[in-house]
Amino acid sequence: MQIRIKAIQNEVLQIKTDMLAVGVPEQKTLSGPAKMLDKRLGGAVSALVGLGDFEGKEKTTVMLYTRGKLGAARVLLVGLGKKEKADAETLRKAAAMAAFKAVETKAAKLCVCLHQEMKNIQPAAAAQVITEGLYFGAYRYDEYLSADDTGKKKSAFMDAVIADTSAAFIAAAKKGLAAGAVIGACQNFARTLANRPANAVSPQILAGEAMKLARQTKLRCTVLDEKKLAAKKMGGILAVGQGSANKPRLMILEYRPAKKTKNTPTIGLVGKAITFDSGGISIKPSEGMQDMKFDKSGGIAVLGAMRAIARLKPRVRVLGIVPSAENMPSGLAYRPGDIVTTYSGKTVEIHNTDAEGRMILCDAITYAEELGCQTIVDVATLTGACVVALGQKRAGVMGNDEKLIEQLKDAAKKTGERIWPLPCDDEFVEAMKSKIADLKNAGGKWGGACTAAAFLSQFIKKAKWAHLDIAGVGVWGEDETTAAGSVGFGVRLLTTFVMAL
Ligand code: BES
Ligand code: MN
Ligand code: ZN
Repeated sequence: MQIRIKAIQNEVLQIKTDMLAVGVPEQKTLSGPAKMLDKRLGGAVSALVGLGDFEGKEKTTVMLYTRGKLGAARVLLVGLGKKEKADAETLRKAAAMAAFKAVETKAAKLCVCLHQEMKNIQPAAAAQVITEGLYFGAYRYDEYLSADDTGKKKSAFMDAVIADTSAAFIAAAKKGLAAGAVIGACQNFARTLANRPANAVSPQILAGEAMKLARQTKLRCTVLDEKKLAAKKMGGILAVGQGSANKPRLMILEYRPAKKTKNTPTIGLVGKAITFDSGGISIKPSEGMQDMKFDKSGGIAVLGAMRAIARLKPRVRVLGIVPSAENMPSGLAYRPGDIVTTYSGKTVEIHNTDAEGRMILCDAITYAEELGCQTIVDVATLTGACVVALGQKRAGVMGNDEKLIEQLKDAAKKTGERIWPLPCDDEFVEAMKSKIADLKNAGGKWGGACTAAAFLSQFIKKAKWAHLDIAGVGVWGEDETTAAGSVGFGVRLLTTFVMAL
């Protein structure tokens, strides 16, 4: 889906469009644009509210047909919920719902009028989150759908406008809109990469995507192939990758700010990109295994964020470091019982080949510090245990620095990509010690998200470090804003985190 969004100064009832989306809070009497609309439609809105068909509740919408009484062919009333609870995420979701419905009804032109009742959000911020929401809701993954007459693949282009009568609003909105368009497009870029199946995305192909991204955005990109990984003795990445015909890669993208001084900090974003996680010799059950194509989501969130960062130009240096491998069982695969010497020199006894994410991340983290990162945030679909603990809407956050975790929490609050802290201290480190090697790659039965993070913590020398376990949040299942497949979790969060530094 291509989408173009503009902010225009106009009376919404005037605008010629296929669909007009109007935000309606949950309240006793109609106000704002909904009231205006009601008047124009001869009481049609109050009639349906009176019948109890629409109460302005969050996640609800209702469609009205205007039959020539205004510029729009249809009106979508979008519930904003209780006014006092509504925030930026409410607005983002409302815009996403509108765009989602517009695609469903094949409305190519959409006009949104969602922010007018939400005076507590500044114009630029409102325009940014609306834009992000429009990108999110308009997204469909249709690369493999034939264009047939059921119209499944009909999501080619959307023209959207954010309308307001105030010139001051429009002027301020334009800036927010530009940032929102970058973030929205980069998140959708990430969703498409994540949604591609493993027969289309190998580590080598993903590295090609990283290089293409670098060419387009003027980032620097280095790719280590299996020979270079071997020369550097990156034993963790090599061990996980050795069972597959698709050889592993390590990608490094670099963003440099225009004004760089000695004191400019370097931030490392490290993302797990397992293009397919079969579990390896410790093979997974077949049910649901198809979803393990999404095990590259952390690495792809880093690629998406780097793309946004290249456009939004923060004042810090950022390295995007993405280790990638395919975890397969074969005659060449690494095995339980193997002892792997990682890039750090630390040895790891393999207890479970399905705990592969940490094996590729540990090498990438060591390398990140070697390349000068003082702050490292890693993102990974690391453990099923995190999903058991937190469900599908919150990522786990762990780390060694409270301030860094707070900064991530702030970014999470702004972006609606929610995170929740979990511990990873000494007792969990103890669980990862091996009798015959420095560490083992799988702990006991309990606290799997915490032991996984504790394992990673052993590879940090002096950097400030935080770890995001996004195993549960990458794919939500379809809902009123969300197409099937990846949601691109982490792109908004990482970008916003970096921009705030
Ligand atoms: N990629 C999986 C984690 C995962 C599970 C992601 C469910 C998304 C949904 C990871 O590599 C894995 O297999 N982890 C194991 C670790 C265990 C063997 C210590 C797990 O969580 O079971
Ligand atoms: Mn695994
Ligand atoms: Zn995995």
